[in-house]
Amino acid sequence: MSNVVDSQRVVSFIRDLYKEQDFIPLHAPIFKGNEAQYVNDTLASTFVSSVGAYVDKFEGAIKKYTNAKGAVATVNGTAALHTALHLAGVSSSDYVITQALTFVATANAINQVGAIPLFVDVCEQTLGLCPISLETYLDEDTFLNEGGECIDKKSGKRVKAILPMHTFGHPCDLDALIMIAKKHNLVVIEDAAESLGSFYKGRHTGTFGDYAAISFNGNKIITTGSGGMVLTRSLEDEKKGRHITTTAKTPHPYEYVHDQVGFNYRLANLNAALGCAQMEKLELLLKSKREIASAYKHFFVDTDYQFVAEPKNCRSNYWLNAIICPDEKSRQQMLEFTNNGNVMTRPVWTLINELPMYADAPCANDLPISQFLSKRLLNLPSSAIVE
Ligand SMILES: Cc1ncc(COP(=O)(O)O)c(C=O)c1O
Repeated sequence: MSNVVDSQRVVSFIRDLYKEQDFIPLHAPIFKGNEAQYVNDTLASTFVSSVGAYVDKFEGAIKKYTNAKGAVATVNGTAALHTALHLAGVSSSDYVITQALTFVATANAINQVGAIPLFVDVCEQTLGLCPISLETYLDEDTFLNEGGECIDKKSGKRVKAILPMHTFGHPCDLDALIMIAKKHNLVVIEDAAESLGSFYKGRHTGTFGDYAAISFNGNKIITTGSGGMVLTRSLEDEKKGRHITTTAKTPHPYEYVHDQVGFNYRLANLNAALGCAQMEKLELLLKSKREIASAYKHFFVDTDYQFVAEPKNCRSNYWLNAIICPDEKSRQQMLEFTNNGNVMTRPVWTLINELPMYADAPCANDLPISQFLSKRLLNLPSSAIVE
């Protein structure tokens, strides 16, 4: 079958799936619940900014759903990652191990605390941080000093944390990653920006590491317009997180007293109101997204394109459906045909170590799987369908 025929079949399939002859986006939000009512409540109350009942309510809803001990709402997912890295004690010149195959915000947050991303490869099964690649680097190229800190042999820099990312909502191999991190005294921060509603062995992603960050950007499974959440394993860290994200202001009826340099990162009540309404629909959205994923999976079964299915022992939210094309040329052809035909598809991100500002950041080892995937992965329209 020629690539053009493949592309035509894909476009027809997607048009049938979405029952849409006009433009089909990659991922559109759905507001069919109490969104307008809750947002209007905030307008009526005048509490539209960082103080208000919906922010606390939204944090409570996320905690209840994920079973996380602590949750701190932030202005976006990048701010949540920055806060998590700060709480983890990552400091200037530390190395933080992450994957090159991720959205740029993962590396930007590492940079924001003055640390340096150190890239390891991903697994083809999970699209996330590869435990074998991670362990090889840590066993061969680092040692624990007398204080128990993990030190990179070549540069002498401290390796403080690992930051795995659950790509497109597919959970990483968390058991293995946590075990390796423990052995080398590393903090674990999960970039769960894309994985609200994804579970690893029955437990929600973002509750395995010491900290995690979720995003509620307009393109995510639920949205607050712009927003994020830090998940913590203790109430003490939740308290610290809330303090640092609210300009480190100490409680006082009228005085302005701030006891450290803080961030102005608290999610606004207006945005949290949207989030509360969206959370009420999460199960419905997840159901639809799994049905869409199942339809894609069946469609691609007898083709040269491999549908990216959820990893073993996982339940993915299928935030963005993806296929692995046979080669770079066939992906390019698919991209051009679908986008020219008003059906939005996208290639996976450029590898972070290939972006100019991170070109000098170290790679722990070769990145063959990341390179293979970066030339072949393609995202398909994935919006939920809710009548
Ligand atoms: C993997 C990943 N990390 C971090 C972010 C940052 O989230 P935000 O856009 O809310 O800052 C995003 C999404 O945008 C993401 O996909």
